[in-house]
Amino acid sequence: MHLRPRRNRRTPAIRSLVRETVLSPADFILPLFLHEDEVDVPIASMPGVTRWSLAGLVREAGEAHALGVPAVVLFPKIDDALKSSDAAECYHSEGLVPRAIRALKAAHPTLCVITDVALDPYNSDGHDGLVERDAAGELQILNDETVEILCRQALCHARAGADIVSPSDMMDGRVAALRHALDREGFQQVSILSYSAKYASAYYGPFRGALDSAPKEGDKKTYQMDPANAREAIREVLLDEAEGADMVMVKPAGPYLDIIARVREVTTLPVAAYQVSGEYLMIESAAAAGWLDAKAVALESLTGIKRAGADMILTYYAKRAAAWLA
Ligand code: PBG
Repeated sequence: MHLRPRRNRRTPAIRSLVRETVLSPADFILPLFLHEDEVDVPIASMPGVTRWSLAGLVREAGEAHALGVPAVVLFPKIDDALKSSDAAECYHSEGLVPRAIRALKAAHPTLCVITDVALDPYNSDGHDGLVERDAAGELQILNDETVEILCRQALCHARAGADIVSPSDMMDGRVAALRHALDREGFQQVSILSYSAKYASAYYGPFRGALDSAPKEGDKKTYQMDPANAREAIREVLLDEAEGADMVMVKPAGPYLDIIARVREVTTLPVAAYQVSGEYLMIESAAAAGWLDAKAVALESLTGIKRAGADMILTYYAKRAAAWLA
């Protein structure tokens, strides 16, 4: 036989020479949950993930950063008493998120701090946007009114020192509005990482349990994308690019590798992918039952996401994977 592909797989040294995709801690963004309490609490719906106090958050972020993880993204659990139908707590300058940003930047100046821009943790209705009931009694998620609140939220995060704001709400026109609002206040250096192709996914279930942020009524299908659609993801990405996004995101990641690959082809912007709570838990629960090797499967799934075209990956494995790769 003249052609033997196996020659390129013969030794670890040769395999490392021909490897096309190399995972690095520098690829990871660590999602961190936080709350008002002074204690760090394991999250029941997400085994292995913690809801941090401010002190715990600063410690955990520092440990991940020391392992080479460049960035964290913050998800607050807001006390029920502070939730309202206008989600006003989301732009309170002394709110949980701005205080966390200041604490993180003070303790770890080189850490990139990313914030989630969406109303669901603050909204008593649990939706990412403001809710109104129309004449027929149907819930409507108000687009333009929501975008105004999102701008106030992003400005609140920018004033506290966020490096990147990350709109996950899927309202139309929010990237242009955020860019305009940030620039007008002098925050030209604050980046926008847009959740451009965010699908209405059942894989978010454990996350909503973690934040107690599930919609009280209805679902998110009038703003998040239909899992059946791929061309629409391209449309969303191109719009966000035109509106001034610095980076775009596909979410979830594992079940949407084709979308990541297609997005990679149509934009020169960096592409992020979010390995969401349900993806994480499918691996963790199988590993807990002794059915899978968590380390091997997690690294393989992260490699697959990078191979598909992601430049960066939001993953609950960020800190552990960084330690495994060290
Ligand atoms: C909400 C938001 C969600 C996630 C990130 N930001 C949930 C949702 O859209 O309902 C999900 C992340 C995960 O499942 O890990 N703006």
